[in-house]
Amino acid sequence: MRILGIESSCDETAAAVVEDGLTVLSSVVASQLDTHGKYGGVVPELASREHLRAIVPVVREALERAGTKLEEAAAIAVTEGPGLAGSLLVGLTYAKALSYARGIPLIGVNHIEGHIHAVVMESARAGNPVEFPALALVVSGGHTHLFLVDEGFGYRLLGKTRDDAAGEAYDKVAKLLGFGYPGGPIIDQLAPHGRPDAVRFTLAKMKGNTLDFSFSGLKTAVLRWVESRDLAAQIEARRRLSRERPRPSPEQWLAATPRETLDLLAGFQHTVIEELLRRVWRSAEETGARSVIISGGVACNSGLRERARAAVPVHFPSLGLSTDNAAMIAAAAFPKYARGEFSDLSLPARANLSLATP
Ligand code: KG4
Ligand code: ZN
Repeated sequence: MRILGIESSCDETAAAVVEDGLTVLSSVVASQLDTHGKYGGVVPELASREHLRAIVPVVREALERAGTKLEEAAAIAVTEGPGLAGSLLVGLTYAKALSYARGIPLIGVNHIEGHIHAVVMESARAGNPVEFPALALVVSGGHTHLFLVDEGFGYRLLGKTRDDAAGEAYDKVAKLLGFGYPGGPIIDQLAPHGRPDAVRFTLAKMKGNTLDFSFSGLKTAVLRWVESRDLAAQIEARRRLSRERPRPSPEQWLAATPRETLDLLAGFQHTVIEELLRRVWRSAEETGARSVIISGGVACNSGLRERARAAVPVHFPSLGLSTDNAAMIAAAAFPKYARGEFSDLSLPARANLSLATP
Protein backbone atom coordinates (compact mmCIF):
# COMPACT_ATOMS: atom_id res chain seq x y z
CA MET A 1 0.00 0.00 0.00
CA ARG A 2 1.55 3.25 -1.15
CA ILE A 3 0.99 6.84 -0.03
CA LEU A 4 2.16 9.89 -1.95
CA GLY A 5 3.40 12.66 0.38
CA ILE A 6 3.63 16.34 -0.48
CA GLU A 7 5.42 18.96 1.66
CA SER A 8 5.78 22.71 1.02
CA SER A 9 5.58 24.37 4.43
CA CYS A 10 8.81 26.36 4.29
CA ASP A 11 11.59 26.55 1.72
CA GLU A 12 11.74 23.03 0.30
CA THR A 13 9.32 21.63 -2.23
CA ALA A 14 9.16 17.90 -1.56
CA ALA A 15 7.29 14.79 -2.68
CA ALA A 16 7.77 11.14 -1.76
CA VAL A 17 6.20 7.73 -2.08
CA VAL A 18 6.22 5.49 1.00
CA GLU A 19 5.12 1.85 1.03
CA ASP A 20 3.39 0.21 4.00
CA GLY A 21 4.56 2.95 6.35
CA LEU A 22 8.04 1.41 6.29
CA THR A 23 9.80 1.77 2.97
CA VAL A 24 10.72 5.03 1.23
CA LEU A 25 10.36 4.25 -2.49
CA SER A 26 11.32 7.81 -3.43
CA SER A 27 11.97 11.12 -1.70
CA VAL A 28 12.55 14.20 -3.85
CA VAL A 29 13.45 17.54 -2.26
CA ALA A 30 13.90 20.73 -4.28
CA SER A 31 15.72 23.16 -2.03
CA GLN A 32 15.39 26.92 -2.45
CA LEU A 33 18.70 27.67 -0.71
CA ASP A 34 20.10 29.57 -3.65
CA THR A 35 17.03 31.80 -3.74
CA HIS A 36 17.01 32.74 -0.04
CA GLY A 37 20.72 32.43 0.80
CA LYS A 38 21.59 35.92 -0.32
CA TYR A 39 18.87 37.44 1.91
CA GLY A 40 20.12 35.64 5.01
CA GLY A 41 16.80 33.89 5.60
CA VAL A 42 13.60 32.68 3.96
CA VAL A 43 11.66 35.36 2.04
CA PRO A 44 7.99 34.20 2.11
CA GLU A 45 6.92 35.72 -1.22
CA LEU A 46 9.87 34.19 -3.04
CA ALA A 47 9.22 30.85 -1.34
CA SER A 48 5.63 30.63 -2.66
CA ARG A 49 6.81 31.48 -6.16
CA GLU A 50 9.52 28.82 -6.08
CA HIS A 51 7.02 26.23 -4.80
CA LEU A 52 4.72 27.04 -7.71
CA ARG A 53 7.57 26.49 -10.12
CA ALA A 54 8.71 23.23 -8.54
CA ILE A 55 5.60 21.41 -7.33
CA VAL A 56 4.53 19.69 -10.56
CA PRO A 57 7.97 18.38 -11.62
CA VAL A 58 8.85 17.34 -8.05
CA VAL A 59 5.67 15.25 -7.65
CA ARG A 60 6.14 13.73 -11.10
CA GLU A 61 9.74 12.81 -10.30
CA ALA A 62 8.77 11.23 -6.97
CA LEU A 63 6.17 9.03 -8.71
CA GLU A 64 8.58 8.11 -11.52
CA ARG A 65 11.44 7.20 -9.20
CA ALA A 66 9.07 5.06 -7.12
CA GLY A 67 7.79 3.33 -10.28
CA THR A 68 4.30 4.27 -9.15
CA LYS A 69 1.37 5.67 -11.11
CA LEU A 70 -0.71 8.29 -9.35
CA GLU A 71 -3.76 5.97 -9.56
CA GLU A 72 -1.86 3.40 -7.51
CA ALA A 73 -1.57 5.72 -4.51
CA ALA A 74 -3.96 4.71 -1.73
CA ALA A 75 -3.92 8.28 -0.43
CA ILE A 76 -2.30 11.65 -0.90
CA ALA A 77 -0.80 13.05 2.30
CA VAL A 78 -0.09 16.75 2.47
CA THR A 79 1.28 19.17 5.06
CA GLU A 80 -1.60 21.36 6.28
CA GLY A 81 0.53 23.35 8.77
CA PRO A 82 2.32 24.83 10.60
CA GLY A 83 4.41 26.90 8.20
CA LEU A 84 4.30 29.87 5.86
CA ALA A 85 0.72 30.36 4.68
CA GLY A 86 1.58 31.06 1.04
CA SER A 87 3.97 28.12 0.88
CA LEU A 88 1.54 25.69 2.51
CA LEU A 89 -1.18 26.73 0.05
CA VAL A 90 0.83 25.61 -2.97
CA GLY A 91 1.28 22.01 -1.81
CA LEU A 92 -2.19 21.84 -0.34
CA THR A 93 -3.94 23.15 -3.45
CA TYR A 94 -2.02 20.80 -5.71
CA ALA A 95 -2.74 17.82 -3.45
CA LYS A 96 -6.44 18.68 -3.43
CA ALA A 97 -6.49 19.00 -7.20
CA LEU A 98 -4.88 15.57 -7.64
CA SER A 99 -7.20 14.06 -5.03
CA TYR A 100 -10.29 15.50 -6.69
CA ALA A 101 -9.28 14.70 -10.26
CA ARG A 102 -8.36 11.05 -9.54
CA GLY A 103 -10.69 10.32 -6.64
CA ILE A 104 -7.81 9.52 -4.28
CA PRO A 105 -8.39 10.15 -0.55
CA LEU A 106 -6.65 13.19 0.96
CA ILE A 107 -4.95 13.17 4.38
CA GLY A 108 -3.83 16.42 6.03
CA VAL A 109 -0.67 16.02 8.14
CA ASN A 110 0.87 18.25 10.79
CA HIS A 111 4.47 19.04 9.78
CA ILE A 112 5.77 18.48 13.32
CA GLU A 113 4.08 15.09 13.49
CA GLY A 114 5.85 14.35 10.20
CA HIS A 115 9.28 15.00 11.79
CA ILE A 116 8.41 12.51 14.53
CA HIS A 117 7.19 9.87 12.06
CA ALA A 118 10.43 10.05 10.06
CA VAL A 119 12.01 8.39 13.09
CA VAL A 120 9.14 6.02 13.85
CA MET A 121 9.30 4.74 10.26
CA GLU A 122 13.07 4.38 9.96
CA SER A 123 13.49 2.75 13.36
CA ALA A 124 10.76 0.20 12.59
CA ARG A 125 12.35 -0.51 9.23
CA ALA A 126 15.73 -1.04 10.90
CA GLY A 127 14.19 -3.60 13.26
CA ASN A 128 14.75 -1.35 16.28
CA PRO A 129 11.28 0.13 16.76
CA VAL A 130 10.57 3.16 18.94
CA GLU A 131 9.09 2.06 22.27
CA PHE A 132 6.23 4.02 23.79
CA PRO A 133 5.65 6.22 25.62
CA ALA A 134 8.42 8.08 23.81
CA LEU A 135 9.84 11.54 24.31
CA ALA A 136 10.10 13.48 21.07
CA LEU A 137 12.35 16.52 20.72
CA VAL A 138 11.62 18.32 17.45
CA VAL A 139 14.35 20.87 16.75
CA SER A 140 14.43 22.82 13.52
CA GLY A 141 14.58 26.33 12.12
CA GLY A 142 10.97 26.90 13.07
CA HIS A 143 10.34 24.65 16.08
CA THR A 144 11.80 23.55 19.37
CA HIS A 145 9.19 21.32 21.00
CA LEU A 146 9.34 18.49 23.50
CA PHE A 147 6.44 16.01 23.45
CA LEU A 148 5.43 12.84 25.17
CA VAL A 149 4.04 10.47 22.54
CA ASP A 150 1.86 7.46 23.30
CA GLU A 151 1.40 4.29 21.27
CA GLY A 152 -1.72 5.59 19.55
CA PHE A 153 0.14 8.77 18.54
CA GLY A 154 -1.48 11.02 21.10
CA TYR A 155 0.80 13.96 21.91
CA ARG A 156 1.34 15.85 25.14
CA LEU A 157 3.40 19.04 24.90
CA LEU A 158 5.96 19.10 27.73
CA GLY A 159 7.85 22.23 26.70
CA LYS A 160 8.57 24.54 23.81
CA THR A 161 10.69 27.56 23.00
CA ARG A 162 9.44 30.89 24.28
CA ASP A 163 11.42 32.85 21.70
CA ASP A 164 13.82 31.56 19.03
CA ALA A 165 13.90 27.98 17.78
CA ALA A 166 17.26 26.21 18.16
CA GLY A 167 17.91 26.26 14.40
CA GLU A 168 16.94 29.92 14.29
CA ALA A 169 19.58 30.64 16.95
CA TYR A 170 22.16 28.85 14.77
CA ASP A 171 21.06 30.81 11.72
CA LYS A 172 21.10 34.19 13.51
CA VAL A 173 24.52 33.63 15.06
CA ALA A 174 25.86 32.47 11.70
CA LYS A 175 24.45 35.54 9.95
CA LEU A 176 25.94 37.85 12.58
CA LEU A 177 29.37 36.31 12.04
CA GLY A 178 29.19 36.36 8.23
CA PHE A 179 28.61 32.65 7.56
CA GLY A 180 25.46 33.13 5.47
CA TYR A 181 22.27 31.06 5.56
CA PRO A 182 21.57 28.42 6.78
CA GLY A 183 24.19 28.60 9.50
CA GLY A 184 23.63 25.33 11.36
CA PRO A 185 25.69 23.09 9.09
CA ILE A 186 28.68 25.50 8.96
CA ILE A 187 28.78 26.13 12.72
CA ASP A 188 28.54 22.37 13.22
CA GLN A 189 31.58 21.83 10.97
CA LEU A 190 33.66 24.50 12.71
CA ALA A 191 32.69 24.04 16.37
CA PRO A 192 34.88 20.92 16.90
CA HIS A 193 37.90 23.08 16.01
CA GLY A 194 37.35 25.37 19.02
CA ARG A 195 37.51 24.76 22.77
CA PRO A 196 33.99 24.44 24.17
CA ASP A 197 35.00 25.79 27.59
CA ALA A 198 36.93 28.87 26.41
CA VAL A 199 33.81 31.03 26.05
CA ARG A 200 31.21 30.19 28.66
CA PHE A 201 27.54 31.10 28.42
CA THR A 202 24.99 30.89 31.19
CA LEU A 203 22.12 28.48 30.71
CA ALA A 204 18.62 29.94 30.47
CA LYS A 205 16.68 30.07 33.73
CA MET A 206 13.02 29.39 33.07
CA LYS A 207 10.28 30.72 35.30
CA GLY A 208 7.09 28.68 35.21
CA ASN A 209 7.44 25.57 33.05
CA THR A 210 11.12 24.65 33.42
CA LEU A 211 10.87 22.32 30.40
CA ASP A 212 10.35 25.34 28.14
CA PHE A 213 13.34 26.52 26.10
CA SER A 214 14.82 29.96 25.44
CA PHE A 215 17.62 30.85 23.04
CA SER A 216 17.31 34.64 22.73
CA GLY A 217 19.57 35.27 25.76
CA LEU A 218 22.29 33.13 24.24
CA LYS A 219 21.94 34.94 20.93
CA THR A 220 22.28 38.31 22.71
CA ALA A 221 25.32 37.07 24.65
CA VAL A 222 26.97 36.14 21.35
CA LEU A 223 26.11 39.59 19.98
CA ARG A 224 27.70 41.29 23.03
CA TRP A 225 30.80 39.11 22.65
CA VAL A 226 31.12 40.13 18.99
CA GLU A 227 30.49 43.82 19.72
CA SER A 228 33.18 43.91 22.39
CA ARG A 229 35.81 42.88 19.84
CA ASP A 230 37.08 44.26 16.59
CA LEU A 231 35.87 41.56 14.22
CA ALA A 232 34.59 43.70 11.35
CA ALA A 233 37.32 42.68 8.89
CA GLN A 234 37.01 38.91 9.43
CA ILE A 235 33.20 39.10 9.32
CA GLU A 236 33.29 41.02 6.05
CA ALA A 237 35.75 38.51 4.57
CA ARG A 238 33.40 35.66 5.46
CA ARG A 239 30.39 37.53 4.04
CA ARG A 240 32.20 37.67 0.73
CA LEU A 241 33.06 34.00 1.03
CA SER A 242 29.42 33.10 1.81
CA ARG A 243 28.34 34.56 -1.55
CA GLU A 244 30.71 32.40 -3.57
CA ARG A 245 29.38 29.60 -5.74
CA PRO A 246 30.16 26.76 -5.58
CA ARG A 247 29.78 26.96 -1.82
CA PRO A 248 32.99 27.27 0.20
CA SER A 249 34.53 24.05 1.54
CA PRO A 250 34.94 23.41 5.29
CA GLU A 251 38.68 24.11 4.82
CA GLN A 252 37.94 27.55 3.35
CA TRP A 253 35.64 28.40 6.27
CA LEU A 254 38.25 27.20 8.72
CA ALA A 255 40.93 29.37 7.12
CA ALA A 256 38.61 32.41 7.38
CA THR A 257 37.83 31.85 11.07
CA PRO A 258 40.44 32.79 13.70
CA ARG A 259 40.95 30.71 16.83
CA GLU A 260 39.00 33.02 19.12
CA THR A 261 35.91 32.84 16.90
CA LEU A 262 36.21 29.05 16.69
CA ASP A 263 36.16 29.00 20.50
CA LEU A 264 33.03 31.15 20.44
CA LEU A 265 31.32 28.72 18.04
CA ALA A 266 32.34 25.76 20.17
CA GLY A 267 30.95 27.45 23.29
CA PHE A 268 27.73 28.36 21.49
CA GLN A 269 27.17 24.84 20.16
CA HIS A 270 28.03 23.32 23.54
CA THR A 271 25.43 25.56 25.21
CA VAL A 272 22.66 24.82 22.69
CA ILE A 273 23.22 21.07 23.07
CA GLU A 274 23.29 21.37 26.86
CA GLU A 275 20.00 23.34 26.84
CA LEU A 276 18.35 20.67 24.67
CA LEU A 277 19.69 17.57 26.35
CA ARG A 278 19.27 18.52 29.98
CA ARG A 279 15.52 18.92 29.36
CA VAL A 280 15.43 15.58 27.54
CA TRP A 281 17.22 13.83 30.42
CA ARG A 282 15.05 15.39 33.08
CA SER A 283 11.75 14.70 31.34
CA ALA A 284 12.83 11.16 30.43
CA GLU A 285 13.25 10.53 34.15
CA GLU A 286 10.05 12.30 35.18
CA THR A 287 7.78 10.69 32.60
CA GLY A 288 9.24 7.19 32.54
CA ALA A 289 9.54 7.38 28.75
CA ARG A 290 10.89 4.20 27.18
CA SER A 291 12.72 5.86 24.32
CA VAL A 292 13.74 9.27 22.96
CA ILE A 293 13.19 10.60 19.43
CA ILE A 294 15.25 13.58 18.23
CA SER A 295 14.21 14.98 14.86
CA GLY A 296 14.15 18.13 12.69
CA GLY A 297 16.99 19.95 10.90
CA VAL A 298 19.05 20.50 14.07
CA ALA A 299 19.00 16.71 14.61
CA CYS A 300 21.68 16.67 11.85
CA ASN A 301 24.05 18.27 14.37
CA SER A 302 27.06 16.03 14.95
CA GLY A 303 27.70 17.29 18.49
CA LEU A 304 24.08 16.62 19.44
CA ARG A 305 24.24 13.10 17.96
CA GLU A 306 27.45 12.36 19.86
CA ARG A 307 26.24 13.56 23.23
CA ALA A 308 22.65 12.31 23.05
CA ARG A 309 22.92 9.29 25.27
CA ALA A 310 20.21 8.54 27.78
CA ALA A 311 19.14 5.77 30.11
CA VAL A 312 16.70 4.72 27.35
CA PRO A 313 17.41 4.26 23.60
CA VAL A 314 17.77 7.48 21.58
CA HIS A 315 16.58 7.44 17.94
CA PHE A 316 17.66 9.92 15.25
CA PRO A 317 16.47 9.98 11.63
CA SER A 318 18.99 9.53 8.81
CA LEU A 319 20.37 12.91 7.70
CA GLY A 320 18.13 13.05 4.60
CA LEU A 321 14.99 12.60 6.69
CA SER A 322 16.08 15.01 9.45
CA THR A 323 15.57 18.17 7.41
CA ASP A 324 12.27 18.87 5.67
CA ASN A 325 11.09 16.12 3.32
CA ALA A 326 7.84 14.52 2.18
CA ALA A 327 8.59 10.90 3.15
CA MET A 328 7.91 11.90 6.75
CA ILE A 329 4.56 13.38 5.73
CA ALA A 330 3.56 10.18 3.94
CA ALA A 331 4.80 8.10 6.90
CA ALA A 332 2.65 10.10 9.34
CA ALA A 333 -0.40 9.45 7.18
CA PHE A 334 -0.34 5.63 7.54
CA PRO A 335 -1.84 5.48 11.05
CA LYS A 336 -4.45 8.03 9.96
CA TYR A 337 -5.27 5.92 6.92
CA ALA A 338 -5.68 2.87 9.16
CA ARG A 339 -8.05 4.84 11.39
CA GLY A 340 -9.98 6.19 8.39
CA GLU A 341 -9.06 9.80 9.19
CA PHE A 342 -9.40 11.48 5.82
CA SER A 343 -9.61 15.19 5.01
CA ASP A 344 -12.05 16.75 2.59
CA LEU A 345 -11.44 19.38 -0.03
CA SER A 346 -12.21 22.18 2.40
CA LEU A 347 -8.98 21.40 4.32
CA PRO A 348 -7.43 24.83 5.03
CA ALA A 349 -3.75 25.79 5.29
CA ARG A 350 -3.10 26.47 8.96
CA ALA A 351 0.05 28.53 9.49
CA ASN A 352 -0.13 28.20 13.30
CA LEU A 353 -1.40 24.64 13.58
CA SER A 354 -0.22 23.07 16.83
CA LEU A 355 0.24 19.36 17.53
CA ALA A 356 -0.74 19.38 21.18
CA THR A 357 -1.41 21.70 24.04
CA PRO A 358 0.19 21.30 27.49
O1 KG4 B 1 13.70 20.87 9.62
P1 KG4 B 1 14.31 21.95 8.75
O2 KG4 B 1 14.84 21.54 7.41
O3 KG4 B 1 13.30 23.09 8.48
C1 KG4 B 1 12.37 23.57 9.42
O4 KG4 B 1 11.30 22.94 9.60
O5 KG4 B 1 12.73 24.61 10.03
O6 KG4 B 1 15.47 22.62 9.64
C2 KG4 B 1 16.33 23.63 9.14
C3 KG4 B 1 17.17 24.16 10.30
C4 KG4 B 1 17.99 25.39 9.98
O7 KG4 B 1 17.82 26.34 11.00
C5 KG4 B 1 19.43 24.87 9.95
O8 KG4 B 1 20.39 25.84 10.29
C6 KG4 B 1 19.37 23.76 10.96
O9 KG4 B 1 18.09 23.16 10.75
N1 KG4 B 1 20.43 22.77 10.77
C7 KG4 B 1 21.40 22.52 11.68
C8 KG4 B 1 22.26 21.56 11.11
N2 KG4 B 1 21.77 21.23 9.88
C9 KG4 B 1 20.65 21.98 9.69
N3 KG4 B 1 21.63 23.06 12.90
C10 KG4 B 1 22.68 22.60 13.58
N4 KG4 B 1 23.56 21.69 13.11
C11 KG4 B 1 23.38 21.13 11.89
N5 KG4 B 1 24.25 20.22 11.43
ZN1 ZN C 1 10.61 21.01 9.51
